[in-house]
Amino acid sequence: MPKSAEEFSFGRNWSNFLRHSLQADQIEIAKAQTARFLGLTGLEGLTFIDIGCGSGIFSHAAHALGAAEVISFDVDPLSVRCCEHMREQAGCPENWRVFHGSVLDRDIISRLPPADIVYSWGVLHHTGAMWNAIRNAAGLVKPGGRFFISIYNRLEYDTMRQYRGSHGWLRLKRIYNRNPAIVKRAMECWFAAKDLAAFLVTLRNPFREIRRYRGKRGMSWWYDLVDWVGGYPYEFASSGEMFSFCHGELGLQLERLHSTSSLGCNEFLFLRPRDVETAAEHPAAGVFGRQEAGGAIS
Ligand SMILES: C[S@@+](CC[C@H](N)C(=O)[O-])C[C@H]1O[C@@H](n2cnc3c(N)ncnc32)[C@H](O)[C@@H]1O
Repeated sequence: MPKSAEEFSFGRNWSNFLRHSLQADQIEIAKAQTARFLGLTGLEGLTFIDIGCGSGIFSHAAHALGAAEVISFDVDPLSVRCCEHMREQAGCPENWRVFHGSVLDRDIISRLPPADIVYSWGVLHHTGAMWNAIRNAAGLVKPGGRFFISIYNRLEYDTMRQYRGSHGWLRLKRIYNRNPAIVKRAMECWFAAKDLAAFLVTLRNPFREIRRYRGKRGMSWWYDLVDWVGGYPYEFASSGEMFSFCHGELGLQLERLHSTSSLGCNEFLFLRPRDVETAAEHPAAGVFGRQEAGGAIS
């Protein structure tokens, strides 16, 4: 739930997504695409932390891919409820924990065991303190483990859509969040109509395009549109800025980058090298003692 009038309720949008959109094939798509980006066929023997789990479908995917342990958390209680629902759908496995918490809360982070895979897709730019969030999340990656994140791209001007780049979207999101529900719905419909018009003028069948959208991580065109128009706080970074921070400051190695030239998300897969000592910098140092460089992905 939003903490202030200007904060978007991601959890409400995810509840609607689960209620009105989610079907079994979308979970299969989430599984396949998560595994593909990680370069794996399964997660057997690996631990997985899902930061900002949202609908819970990627935690579900990790569990279904055989992860030894899944830990999911989100700052929005409605998102937590969605993820709990997904866990129930999976038969309430004991090796999957779901709780309410923020990646910005050092106390919570310090109590989590470092994981083989730390996954945080489309989350850290919505925390209101993106660089701190990236630092805290990266601190949870074991030596030899992977950090799979996506962050909104920085664009000074989006020629495709004629909005004024990332700063234009920031202004638009603020307008959305300051207004009553009827204005919000009007804005959502306006952007939906623009998408539909774009399909039609390029002679694409809107029904097919909307259905095809599920191929994007198992998501829904409509609920992604609501998230895209309203999702706030909102920060962004170019892939170069991300690389400088994650490699230069945090010592991670970039293994895979799926970049975009739009205002959408760049996806990154970073590796925490085994020879970088993380115990001192990890907020869990002292709580869990020295970390072992084990459980890596082969
Ligand atoms: C766009 S959704 C992404 C959900 C999911 N990771 C996915 O890929 O579908 C962003 C999620 O991040 C959560 N979030 C925002 N700030 C957070 C924070 N400080 N700590 C944990 N989760 C946060 C939101 O509540 C929301 O559920």
